[in-house]
Amino acid sequence: MDHFLYRDGRLHAEDVDLATIAAEVGTPFYCYSAATLTRHYRLFDDALSFADHLVCFAVKALSNVAVLKLLGDLGAGMDVVSGGEYARARAAGVPGARIVFSGVGKTREEMARALEGGVRQFNVESAPELRALSEVATGLCLTAPVALRVNPDVDARTHEKISTGRKQDKFGIAIEDAPARYAEAAALPGIEVVGIDVHIGSQLIDLDPFEQAYRKVAELTVELRAQGHDIRRLDLGGGLGIPYQRDNAPPPLPADYARMVERTVGHLGCEIEIEPGRLVAGNSGVLVASVVYLKEAAERRWLILDAGMNDLIRPAMYGAHHDIVPLAEPPAGVDLTEHDVVGPVCESADTFARTRLLPPMGPGDLLAFRSAGAYAAVMASEYNSRPLVPEVLVRGDQFAVIRARPTIDEMLARDSIPEWL
Ligand code: LLP
Repeated sequence: MDHFLYRDGRLHAEDVDLATIAAEVGTPFYCYSAATLTRHYRLFDDALSFADHLVCFAVKALSNVAVLKLLGDLGAGMDVVSGGEYARARAAGVPGARIVFSGVGKTREEMARALEGGVRQFNVESAPELRALSEVATGLCLTAPVALRVNPDVDARTHEKISTGRKQDKFGIAIEDAPARYAEAAALPGIEVVGIDVHIGSQLIDLDPFEQAYRKVAELTVELRAQGHDIRRLDLGGGLGIPYQRDNAPPPLPADYARMVERTVGHLGCEIEIEPGRLVAGNSGVLVASVVYLKEAAERRWLILDAGMNDLIRPAMYGAHHDIVPLAEPPAGVDLTEHDVVGPVCESADTFARTRLLPPMGPGDLLAFRSAGAYAAVMASEYNSRPLVPEVLVRGDQFAVIRARPTIDEMLARDSIPEWL
């Protein structure tokens, strides 16, 4: 459930008419609903109340500092994958003790910054990374709390590009090698083993792959404990999917997911961490755009928008579906016709939807891409020298720009021409 609903025929974000924001901020813009973010975070937090737990929001999904502050103030932890994300979480006021540091390619600098600033745990993905972390920590006379990310060789049955838990994927340590790696970790200076980490992919719409993975993690926990390791924390990753198409059957809910977690690992008495991104942020945001032109040919009708693939790359990159709705609610019984919805970027990949049924629309009309809170603004670029889209946060009847649209002059000021040219 989200808080983007029609009221009096106009699409609102909570109590704010999106057209009002469009008039003030200009299009395109991203808009997030504080109530929806809060609700989705709490669904997980409440559902995991059977155990000590921490819901660590996957910052990669939506990294605006205002959003991180909102979630951090609710008690959320953060899952970060770079020095930049770590800095964002800290700037949002999240204490290091609630930040887990994931990612396959952490640099020594990133490790040092997190160790010095405070970190809950590093999710370590390889033996070379483990050794580097040991060196960095001992160099600083600090101890790094570590969970090893294991690769359980489970097919998450999601999009190829966001599947991470199979043997051929670059992530984690093969689960059968884990005992040897834990033995090495226990012997390394500057490393303290605290738990096990697993993440098998994103946009999972079925609990079965999670269950297979978590059962393997439960077996590994017993085995590692028998070998003397103090496994007190399980980080179960993110990945629960969201309904991108309102008409499709909804994926399992956080409560269903949490029951499965309890069933598979609840008996171990570990503290549970999860790292949801998409489920917290995905349906908490929309991208609002304007129609620039309606271009008609014999067999096609293109709606050309002022938002492009550089602003929302998911359709071009994954063939992803986003529901597209007009800001003005179409009257009941209106004739829907097929449109190709495209952006202004000079590539055919700049196509958001083909033959999408929409009511009649023309230049100046406003529309919204739903489910654009996660992996949307964060994946935007300035391709075609298009300024990054601003971000707006709504709470109740208030709204604020939480990232301004850069001016073209600001963009140009980042380049410099060497004096010898
Ligand atoms: N933890 C780790 C280690 C991850 O790699 C990810 C996502 C998450 C947590 C959060 O997963 P979520 O709950 O959001 O599914 N750009 C793609 C999604 C990439 C996901 C990458 N890792 C998309 O737009 O679909």
